[in-house]
Amino acid sequence: MSRMDNTRIPMSSTKFRNKCFLTGLLFFLILTDPRTSAQTLSNVVIEDDGNDSLYKTSFNCASGVALLSVENTNNHGVNLTIKNTNDDQEVLSPVFIREGLAVLSLPSSLFTGDTPLLVRAWYQSDSLEKTTTYYETITVSGLTSVFKEVVSVAETFSVDAQVTRGAFLTFTFFFTHSDTQDIETMTVTPCDVNALSATASMQWVSPGVYNMEISATASSGPSDSISETVTVLPEVPSFAASVAQATTGSDFYPSTDTRVLLKTTVTTRYNASEVSCVFDFGEDGKQPIEIHNLMFNNLADSTITLGLAPYQYSTTGDFVIQINCSNAISQKTDSVSVSITSPTTLALASLSRDFVLFDYTLHAGSVEVSIGHETITNPISDMVVTIDSGDPMQQWTFPSFNPGQKQVITYTTPGLYNVNVTFTAFGLNKVVTLPVRVGLLDFYIVGRPTFVKIGEEVVFELVRYDTNGSLTVNVTYQPNDSQLVEMADGVDKMELRETYSVISPYRASAQISEDDEEEEVVYRFETYGPCISTHDLFDTTYRSEDTPMPALLSAIPSISGRAQLTESCAEGSVLQYYWWLWKNTATPPSFAWEEVTIHQPEAVNLVVGNFITSEGLYRLKLNASVKDSRDFVEDIMHLSVRLPDLVAKISGGDQQQKKIGSLVAMDAALLSYDPADREAGGTGLNYAWACYLLDSAQDITRYLSTYQDDKSYKSLRACPGQISSTSGSFNVDTGVFTVNDIALFEVEVSKGGRSTVDVQVLEILLEQPPDFNLLCRWNCETKLVATDRTVLDPVISCPTCTDQELLDTDYTWSIVKTDIGTRVSTEIPPDHWDQLIASTYKTKIFESEGGWWQAGYSYTLTLEVKVGTKPAARSSHTFYTNQPPYGGSCSVAPAEGYAGETDFQFTCTDWKDEGSRTSRDP
Ligand SMILES: *[C@@H]1O[C@H](CO)[C@@H](O)[C@H](O)[C@H]1NC(C)=O
Ligand SMILES: *[C@@H]1O[C@H](CO)[C@@H](O)[C@H](O)[C@H]1NC(C)=O
Ligand SMILES: *[C@@H]1O[C@H](CO)[C@@H](O)[C@H](O)[C@H]1NC(C)=O
Ligand SMILES: *[C@@H]1O[C@H](CO)[C@@H](O)[C@H](O)[C@H]1NC(C)=O
Ligand SMILES: *[C@@H]1O[C@H](CO)[C@@H](O)[C@H](O)[C@H]1NC(C)=O
Ligand SMILES: *[C@@H]1O[C@H](CO)[C@@H](O)[C@H](O)[C@H]1NC(C)=O
Ligand SMILES: *[C@@H]1O[C@H](CO)[C@@H](O)[C@H](O)[C@H]1NC(C)=O
Repeated sequence: MSRMDNTRIPMSSTKFRNKCFLTGLLFFLILTDPRTSAQTLSNVVIEDDGNDSLYKTSFNCASGVALLSVENTNNHGVNLTIKNTNDDQEVLSPVFIREGLAVLSLPSSLFTGDTPLLVRAWYQSDSLEKTTTYYETITVSGLTSVFKEVVSVAETFSVDAQVTRGAFLTFTFFFTHSDTQDIETMTVTPCDVNALSATASMQWVSPGVYNMEISATASSGPSDSISETVTVLPEVPSFAASVAQATTGSDFYPSTDTRVLLKTTVTTRYNASEVSCVFDFGEDGKQPIEIHNLMFNNLADSTITLGLAPYQYSTTGDFVIQINCSNAISQKTDSVSVSITSPTTLALASLSRDFVLFDYTLHAGSVEVSIGHETITNPISDMVVTIDSGDPMQQWTFPSFNPGQKQVITYTTPGLYNVNVTFTAFGLNKVVTLPVRVGLLDFYIVGRPTFVKIGEEVVFELVRYDTNGSLTVNVTYQPNDSQLVEMADGVDKMELRETYSVISPYRASAQISEDDEEEEVVYRFETYGPCISTHDLFDTTYRSEDTPMPALLSAIPSISGRAQLTESCAEGSVLQYYWWLWKNTATPPSFAWEEVTIHQPEAVNLVVGNFITSEGLYRLKLNASVKDSRDFVEDIMHLSVRLPDLVAKISGGDQQQKKIGSLVAMDAALLSYDPADREAGGTGLNYAWACYLLDSAQDITRYLSTYQDDKSYKSLRACPGQISSTSGSFNVDTGVFTVNDIALFEVEVSKGGRSTVDVQVLEILLEQPPDFNLLCRWNCETKLVATDRTVLDPVISCPTCTDQELLDTDYTWSIVKTDIGTRVSTEIPPDHWDQLIASTYKTKIFESEGGWWQAGYSYTLTLEVKVGTKPAARSSHTFYTNQPPYGGSCSVAPAEGYAGETDFQFTCTDWKDEGSRTSRDP
C-alpha cells in the first residue's frame, strides 16, 4: 500500500490487484531402474528440475487444480504418494506410475504456506521418501518491466514486471516523486506460486518525474530488483485563441504587434508545463513561430491569458491564425481569424483652432496641425503623412506616421483656407480636410448682398470667433461715420443697423487694435435707388406654410403681385415678372417641394389654375424686377387647394305638393354635379335616397336651409313602403302615403371622399294644388348680390281654376334667415320687413331694394299660394348673399387738386373676394 501525506487524495487499495497467471508447477522425479543400479530405491533422487521448458502443465487459482508431470525411468513402475510435510494426511492417494511420463492432478490444499512437499515412492517393499527441496534452493533472477515512460497524470498507469526464474513471488513497486520525495507503493502477490510476472496499475496523485523501483521477492527470501523512471505529465488543456493589437481598439494594422491570447476553456487540476506552441499566422511565405516551455498555469480561472505571440503582418487582408500547443503526451489546437486593415482609416488630424488671429504688424496668423490616430499610439513607419496648408509654399511630407506630431502653419494673408492632411499606407489613402479661418472678426451685411437699396435700413452682423473677454471694435460705415462697438464678454455676434442715402460704392469695415492683436475686416457693396414699391408682393398672411390661401380646385383665382414702379425709377423703366410654382409632396408638417412647370413664367397675372391639377399645398414665388436694372423683389405665398364640394340638387325645388296616388319623379341626376368636372354632369356620382315623415308643417323650413347642420330628421319615422334608391332618379308612388303626410326626401350625392346632401319636402294632399314656379326676375340666383334689388315672380298654372279664382289668388310670403357661421335659422316676421321691401308679404311679386339683404347669410323665401278651393301650394327658394370685397385699399394722388384741372390718379390694390366659397380667408 502507498504511503501518503494527509493532503493527498487517498488511493484506493483496489487499485492494486493481484493477477492470476496460468503458470506451471513442477515436480520432476527421476526414478532409476533398481535392476541396473542397486535393486533398492535408495538411489532415487527426487528434486525439482527448474527447467522452464518443462513447465507445461498449468495451475488454475480458481479451480485449485495443479498438474504434475512425472517421468519414470524404472521399467517396473513405482507407487507414488505425496503429502505436505506439515500434514500427516497423504493428500494424494498412492498412484501407480508405469515407466514413462505421467501427469498427476494435485489438489490446491497441498500448497499451504511455505512448507515443502513430501513425495514418497516405493517399489514392492522398497520405498523411498523424499522431501522436495526446490523451495529452499529457489533463486529469483531476470527481473524486467514494461511500461510507458511518459504518461498523462489523468490516465491509469500500468506496469508489467517479470522474472525469468523464481517462485512464491511477491512483486513490490515503489514510486518516489523526484521533487517531493513522496513514495507510493504497490504490492502484487500472484496467486500462482510459480508465477513469474505481475501487473500493477494505479492512478497518479500528481504530475512529476517518478523513480520506480520494482522488486520480486520469493517468500523464502531471495529477490531481484530494478530501478526505472516514469515521467507523469498533465495534458495540455483545451484553449480558445483570440487576438489583440498592441494598441487599444479593435482594428488591426500591418506592422504593429498582433498578439494571440490563449485562454483555457476547461478547468484542470494541474498546471501543464513545458508546452510548446506553434503559431501559424497564415501569411504566405512566413514561417510559423514556435514558443517553447510555455506554462499553462493553473487554470481554475479560465479567463487567464496564457500566451502571447507578437507578430507583425506585412500586408492587409483576412487571415486565419492556427495555434497548435502540445507536450509529450497531448496536443490541442485552435484557430482565430483576424482582419488586417490599413491604419489610414482611423488616422486623425486636427487644428489647434479653426480660426487664427491675424497679426497685422507681423502679417501672419499661425495654426498648429496635430496628427493622431484613434487607436494607435506608436509610430507607424509605413504610413506617409502629407500636410497641404492650402498655401503652395507650405507643404510637408512625413515618411512615417508619428502620433502626436504637430506642424505649425503660418499664413501671411487673412482668409479661409483648407488644410488637407493625407494619410497613405498599404495602398489606402485618407484625406482629412480642415477649414481654418485666418482672422478673428467677420463683418458683413446679413445675406451678404452686393447691392443695397438707399433709404432702407441694412443690418450688419459683427461676429467674433473668440468670446473670451470684452472687445472694442471700431466699425466704419462710411467715411467719417465710425462707431466704437463694445462686444461684451461672452458675446459673439452683434447686429448693427445703418441706412444709406447716397448712391455710391461703399467700404464698411470693422477694426480691432489691442496690444498685438490687430485686424480689419472690410465689407464692400454699392447702393442703388429703389424702383419697386414694395417688398411684399403678396399678402404676408400667406407667406407661411401654416396659413396658406384656401382655394377650390374648380375655381383657382389668378394671382398677381402688387409691385409698382416708384418715382426713383429711371425713365422708361419696365417691371418684369417671373413665377415659380412648387407642390408639397410630403404631408404637413413635413414639406418636400417639387417644382411644377409654368409655361410662360413671365406673366403679370398668373392663371395658377392652368398649372394646378390636383389638390394639395402649393408654393408660389414671384420675382419682380426692373428691366436693365439690379432692382428686384421676391416674395412667396402658399395656396391650399382642395376639391370643391359636390353640388346636390333635387329637381322641383325645395318642396312639392302632390295628390295622393300620383306618381312623383325624384330626380337628383339632372341638377347635381361635381364642380371639378362639370362636363360629366350628374354621371359618375353616387346617389343614396332616404325618406322620412315629418311630424308637422312647422318643421318644413327647418330642414330646407342649405347652411344648417340639422339632420335630426334622420331619427324620424321612415316613409311607408321603404322608399329608397341608389339611382339618380326614380318614381315614387304616393299611394303608399296617407293624406297630409309630409315626406322629407334626402339624397346623398357622393364621389371619392366627398359627399353633399339635398332634401326636398313632399306634401301628400287629397287634391292636386295648382302648380306654380317661382321665377327669378332679378338677382336671386344661388348667390345674390346683397347691395342689389331682388325680384321673384310666381307663375301659376291651374287649368281647372277659373279666371276669377286666379285673380283672387291668396299669396303669403315668408322669409327665414340663416346665419352661415352659427347655422342658426330665424324667421323674419312681416312686421320686421322694412320699407326696403317694396312688396308686402301678401303681394304676388316679391321685390326688395338693394341693401336689405345682409351679407354672409342664407335666406329661404317661401310663397304659399291658395287658389279657390284648391289646397294651398307652396314653393321655396334658398340662396345666400355675396360678401363685399375686403382687405384692399384705394388711394388717390395728388391728395388735393382742382376739379377739371388736376389729373387725379386712383389706385386700388389688395382687394380680395371669397369667390364661390361662402366665407372669407383669415
Ligand atoms: C531442460 O530441458 C531441455 C529439453 O527438454 C533440455 O534441452 C535442457 O538441457 C534442460 N535443462 C536443464 C538445466 O536440465
Ligand atoms: C503398489 O501398491 C499396490 C497396493 O497398495 C500393490 O498391490 C502393488 O504390488 C504395489 N506395486 C509395487 C510395484 O510395489
Ligand atoms: C500552477 O501554477 C501557478 C503559478 O505558477 C501556481 O500559483 C499554482 O499553485 C500552480 N498550481 C498547481 C496545482 O500546481
Ligand atoms: C497544427 O495541427 C493541425 C491538426 O493537428 C495540423 O493540420 C497542422 O499542420 C498543425 N500546424 C502546425 C503549424 O503545426
Ligand atoms: C483638399 O481636399 C479637398 C477634398 O478632399 C479638395 O477638394 C481640395 O482641392 C483639397 N485642397 C488642397 C489644397 O489640396
Ligand atoms: C480668457 O482670457 C483670460 C485672460 O486673457 C485667460 O486667462 C483665460 O485662459 C482665457 N480663457 C479661455 C477659455 O480662453
Ligand atoms: C476708427 O477707424 C476709422 C477709419 O479707419 C478712423 O478714422 C478712426 O479714427 C478710428 N476710430 C478710433 C477710435 O480708433
